Amino acid sequence: MCGIIGYIGHRNVEEVLLKGLQTLEYRGYDSAGVVLLDSNGTAQVQKCVGKVQNLIVQCKKAPVNDALCGMGHTRWATHGGVTNLNAHPHQSGKVTLIHNGIIENYQELANEYHLADQVISETDTEVVAALLNRFYEGDPVKTIRTVASKLKGTYAFGIIFSDIKDKLFAIRHVSPIIAGVGKDKKEAFLSSDVTALSEYVADYFVIPEDVVTILEAGKITLLDACDQEVFVNHLTIDWETGAIGKNGYEFYMEKEIMEQPQVIVNTVMPRCKDGLPDLSVDHIPDDIWTKYEKITIIACGTAMHAGLVAKNLMQSLLRLPVTVEIASEYIYSDPVIDDTTLVIAISQSGETIDTLEAVRYARKHGADNLSIVNVKGSTIARESQFVLYTNAGPEIAVASTKAYITQLVSLYILICQMAYMRGIFLKEKAMQFMSSLLALPGQIEQVLADRASVHALTKDMIGAKDLFMIGRGLDYTALLEGSLKLKEISYIHSEAYASGELKHGTIALITPETPVITLITQKKLASKELSNAIEVKARGAKVVMLTTKAIPLEDPSQWEHIYYLPALPSEFMIFPAVVALQLIAFYVSKEKGLDVDKPRNLAKVVTVE
Ligand code: AGP
Repeated sequence: MCGIIGYIGHRNVEEVLLKGLQTLEYRGYDSAGVVLLDSNGTAQVQKCVGKVQNLIVQCKKAPVNDALCGMGHTRWATHGGVTNLNAHPHQSGKVTLIHNGIIENYQELANEYHLADQVISETDTEVVAALLNRFYEGDPVKTIRTVASKLKGTYAFGIIFSDIKDKLFAIRHVSPIIAGVGKDKKEAFLSSDVTALSEYVADYFVIPEDVVTILEAGKITLLDACDQEVFVNHLTIDWETGAIGKNGYEFYMEKEIMEQPQVIVNTVMPRCKDGLPDLSVDHIPDDIWTKYEKITIIACGTAMHAGLVAKNLMQSLLRLPVTVEIASEYIYSDPVIDDTTLVIAISQSGETIDTLEAVRYARKHGADNLSIVNVKGSTIARESQFVLYTNAGPEIAVASTKAYITQLVSLYILICQMAYMRGIFLKEKAMQFMSSLLALPGQIEQVLADRASVHALTKDMIGAKDLFMIGRGLDYTALLEGSLKLKEISYIHSEAYASGELKHGTIALITPETPVITLITQKKLASKELSNAIEVKARGAKVVMLTTKAIPLEDPSQWEHIYYLPALPSEFMIFPAVVALQLIAFYVSKEKGLDVDKPRNLAKVVTVE
């Protein structure tokens, strides 16, 4: 969704804001803007459509060097098109406002308070700015509370009252926003997430919901509805500031693909003791692993694809019924929930509202819940009964890669623990399973070291309008993820298809020249997958086969493009397979000259339903 940055302190405010917006740009990049409150009490706004770089150029034409505080915003459009007028910040009288979220009753409020003549944009945010200004009579805290009490929907607001030059204000409801005091205790920051603060603050905190937050240079005060000061837990930043840079790569996505061996180690090692799974670091009670009869996995997008892999393995190894639910469908599907169900939510950001609402729904209806999350202290992490943090570090590229792979290894550890605690795995099997996980970094390194060969596979894909990916079982779940990667960063209409299902209609779409990627790594399914690959080849498709030397091919020469992945036990083949598919998507997007990290229409965190 949107990116929010606020600053009050001794630095050049404009510089801090623009640098922060560049870091937050991955969250949404339709338009960007800043407001700078200068020593005369003038709140100067600069905003424009497009990337933050456009805003930087615009600000250079009229720099503000004496600003006392300010805020910045990158927008992912919800209400109103991508225009300068709809870009944030929005101003009304003495109020300047930036917003992440959706106000559902903004039109009713505009009518009730006759704001139409004061609102020139199409946004819900400008209505709130006008409302704040309408109620403002010199008491900012009272004004914020009054207006917040009238809103329905989600919001993280940054607010400036231009007659108050030494304070910034904030309040949130569902949408995420964090704050922190600078290391020198002489400045304060507001941000949508910690990536924009990590060089300035030693620790930070998530602003509690519905609490008015007052930022001053070196001090942050939180006031509840009774004007009582609220004290919160602070979180420390557990990665090097450099972790947010590109470290020499042209795109974050490439850097994050290359980081996967290391983040697997970072996620597995703390949960492996004497060769056995050990999740005591996550403070999850042991009975969790044995007491449930059903498992429901809830997630969106890539995280949901990780859930599909877990379903496949849980059913085959644990013999447990598992459902994987698209989070945005779950709470509207009248799900059957009881205390024999463990609900596992998966979310990189921990802020995806569809997944958050699903977790809330499941817990309200009596299910126990464990969430697998990457961003520490995120809303889903804080609202879950148990949390297993992936240690992928900050993932900046919109297309998720290293977060997905750490979701997978986390699920594999959890499955191994369940199998061991249920007596399905004896000790040596559990140790063998864990050692297979610990061998993955080296095996993935092999694919990464050979990425030029993977790149060579893409030549017939660059110009494609449609592309199919076919496989069965775990291969199919890998292809669902590979297909999403290709769609979201290359804009090719790619479809992953269970290869056995293709002939029931969709094969009609296969024409000569249609690129088809077939993934064949599952020994028990390989012969059938091969037959399905022959079916599309017979219809002229340009087939790229990803397989291993462990899968016997009668006549390899009949296939124009074969890429051999490292041969691992079938249940671990998904790891090198997905890395190859990530690389394919990356190279196709890069060859097409697209912005790999910030694809059109997308945002890294989706905090609206
Ligand atoms: C992944 O490449 C996509 N950007 C998207 O599907 C993402 O996985 C989905 O929005 C879920 O996000 P989350 O993991 O932060 O909840």
